[in-house]
Amino acid sequence: MKTNKNFNNLVPNYLFAEIAKRTNNFLKENPDKSVIKLGIGDVTLPLAPIVVEAMKKGADDLAKKESFKGYPDYEGYEFLRQAISDYYKSFGVDVPADEVFVSDGAKSDCGNIGDIFSADNTVLVTDPVYPVYVDSNIMAGRKIIYAASNQKNGFAAMPDENVKADIIYLCSPNNPTGSAYTYDQLKEWVDYANKNNAIILYDAAYEAFITEDLPRSIYAIEGAKSCAIEFCSLSKTAGFTGTRCGYTIIPKQLERDGENLYALWYRRQATKFNGVSWPVQCAAAAVFSQEGQKQIKENIAYYQENAKIISSALDELGIYYTGGKNSPYIWLKCPDNMGSWEFFDFLLNEANVVGTPGEGFGKNGEGYFRLTSFGDRENTIEAVRRIKELLKK
Ligand code: MLT
Repeated sequence: MKTNKNFNNLVPNYLFAEIAKRTNNFLKENPDKSVIKLGIGDVTLPLAPIVVEAMKKGADDLAKKESFKGYPDYEGYEFLRQAISDYYKSFGVDVPADEVFVSDGAKSDCGNIGDIFSADNTVLVTDPVYPVYVDSNIMAGRKIIYAASNQKNGFAAMPDENVKADIIYLCSPNNPTGSAYTYDQLKEWVDYANKNNAIILYDAAYEAFITEDLPRSIYAIEGAKSCAIEFCSLSKTAGFTGTRCGYTIIPKQLERDGENLYALWYRRQATKFNGVSWPVQCAAAAVFSQEGQKQIKENIAYYQENAKIISSALDELGIYYTGGKNSPYIWLKCPDNMGSWEFFDFLLNEANVVGTPGEGFGKNGEGYFRLTSFGDRENTIEAVRRIKELLKK
């Protein structure tokens, strides 16, 4: 019997598990301190009322023989896939309902999609990067290469035509740096992928936070249907971090190595996934109704205001940052050239505020730090007050 030795190549703890561990240790030693957590990007507002109503009605359906539901369709119920397709249409992007797979979230799909690709592909990720893209490919034994995001490119890495990659993970608006690609920048990636016969795995989990004229989907870019798979999630858009629902889009025309990728993913899902429950799919469909969109936008506006509160404080302190504008994340340069874990400890000990050390997202995150705007308003204001007090010279 042999275990998967690729696990030995992972960092010992998943980043957010490590942060939780350090925070809990601090709280054990300092039980009287009130710690404010702006680390993991977890939402704090409740689900929108229309979403809760739909979920309750869905649960009631399960209580009656006439409306009871068992296994859902592998790709998700038609009404939800159609609602997602209509949502894309609302910002001018054509995604047919029969190219949508409903899932339990973007994190699982971004990690699981590797099942349809061979282990000897080279994977390109931007650095810093959402750890799931890296860790899931390390587990599979794939070679990983990095495209640098840094202050010079506004933490939005661009392709290098001298580099050969087969699978490319992009996330825009970006986690963790909050930067968002323009149409022209994304077109460069699409052109690179088509030219190199590569596949882009595009994580659009934060698209609902875009406020400027920037692409909300990779399919807003000409040529993307022949090279890109898109993942999205209701976690941040509609507060589903605990409820779990997302979707993956695979254009039916997308082929590589003589295989149809939609067909491969369908086969994979039918084998390993039994779908999202009826009440949750009903709740998800309510997100895309007219009233649902109105209600979730109020919640998003609340987080956007938090982001403004944080970024205004950084402006006042003269600290460099990206994000906060089209993104719930604010990515800042640690003051006084501190290392990112050093700043993590400093902030936790001196201000009792938890953030995420940039180094946890990759080498280029060293010396940077991420704050999230998903806290509640009172805590965000208090955290900012403490940070300002601590860092004011
Ligand atoms: C984060 O804080 O980066 C996110 O919560 C991670 C996730 O969405 O899984």
